[in-house]
Amino acid sequence: MDKKVLLDSLYFRHACKLFDKSKKIAQEDIDFILEAGRLSPSSFGMEHWRFLVIENDGLKQMLKPVCWNQAQITTCSHLVILVAKHHDVQDPTYYKKMFQRRGLSAEMLEGYLEKYANFLSNLASPKAWCEKQCYLAAANMMSYAALIGVDSCPMEGFEHDSVEKILEIDTTKESIALMLPFGYRAKEQSQKFRLEAEELVTYIR
Ligand SMILES: Cc1cc2nc3c(=O)[nH]c(=O)nc-3n(C[C@H](O)[C@H](O)[C@H](O)COP(=O)(O)O)c2cc1C
Repeated sequence: MDKKVLLDSLYFRHACKLFDKSKKIAQEDIDFILEAGRLSPSSFGMEHWRFLVIENDGLKQMLKPVCWNQAQITTCSHLVILVAKHHDVQDPTYYKKMFQRRGLSAEMLEGYLEKYANFLSNLASPKAWCEKQCYLAAANMMSYAALIGVDSCPMEGFEHDSVEKILEIDTTKESIALMLPFGYRAKEQSQKFRLEAEELVTYIR
């Protein structure tokens, strides 16, 4: 694998502020991006997410005012909403299923369930825990999108209550972690600013 090609794709990825509305992402490409999200790691393998994929222009128009009027919402090809499932991950039916699928012995399964229940009982915010996992899926989706020349923008700039209401999210069970529009850039990307590696990497040998 060519490391330069991979690194170049990370330079290519940027927070795209304006997409070319006339360009639509092919179904096989959006499937590829969603697959990168689906295959992402998650704490205890709970897959704390589900992905809503909005293509509908009317719905995008409705969302824009409650997303700080950001142009990405209505100019993107596909708007992916990362929904965090804080109810499911605390529901024994769900989490037992997630452990059972590993084909563990009864004893090991019992051990996992006990450990997990204990972990849950010490969690300050299951909602925040789930949303953190969604960010991992989002990062993979953006990186893999960039590899195939698709632009994206991670977005936290929205009114959670209003967006959840419009998308009919049952907030006793789920929350929106972040919004991820995908499409093709309408303008050249802006300059990338990053701290130097020396400023943020410390080896302990
Ligand atoms: C969690 C998160 C939320 C963000 N929310 C927004 C947003 O609402 N609107 C926006 O234009 N950019 C948003 N950004 C983009 C950042 O401003 C951007 O990633 C950062 O400035 C670095 O620039 P680059 O991604 O182009 O390299 C967000 C980024 C992250 C990681």
